[in-house]
Amino acid sequence: MINKEVSRIIQSRHSVYPIDFNGDEIEDDIVLQILKNANHAPTHRLTQPWLFKIFSKSSKIKLLSEVTKLNGDFSEQKKEKLASNFRLSSHIICVCMHRNLQNIVPEWEEIAATAMSVQNLWISCVDSNIGGYWSTPKYADQLNSFLSLKDNERCLGFFYLGVHASKPKRKIRRTNIEAKTEWFG
Ligand SMILES: Cc1cc2nc3c(=O)[nH]c(=O)nc-3n(C[C@H](O)[C@H](O)[C@H](O)COP(=O)(O)O)c2cc1C
Repeated sequence: MINKEVSRIIQSRHSVYPIDFNGDEIEDDIVLQILKNANHAPTHRLTQPWLFKIFSKSSKIKLLSEVTKLNGDFSEQKKEKLASNFRLSSHIICVCMHRNLQNIVPEWEEIAATAMSVQNLWISCVDSNIGGYWSTPKYADQLNSFLSLKDNERCLGFFYLGVHASKPKRKIRRTNIEAKTEWFG
């Protein structure tokens, strides 16, 4: 038998979008606990490629202004939506990937391992009033200098983290696993 609680937690994980955040701040220490879980993601040859750059309070405003500057062609509506997402979020975690300098594993494995660390961030929010989602805008790739990323590092998007007052309704949008499975008994 597999552990039913683990299944329940995995199946309870879902995206919570800033529109459902109430603007409250999460203590850094709690964010650190979440990040410690991210650090337990599996990683081929233990390269541990994930790198998190965390913005809150005044640094969030600097990040927003950089993103707005990079996207000068954004409509006023889009700018306001972005500003609102930033205002309502407590922490914005820039999810970055550090490519092993000796290329001991292919890049896709480093991205996969980083994505698994994001899954751990997400799962850490289950059963709490903290929620989040991973946003992967095109401009993430243009933030290297702002984020002080080295040549072998890149930003894979933002994990918006915030407090939600009531549990936002989960939308189940999965087709059955049977349709994605082929058994060779
Ligand atoms: C690699 C990755 C990139 C994503 N990028 C975005 C994004 O740019 N914008 C967005 O609204 N959601 C993004 N998401 C969140 C998905 O839309 C979300 O996980 C999906 O709708 C399923 O919902 P659930 O997380 O509640 O199960 C991303 C998810 C993943 C795994």
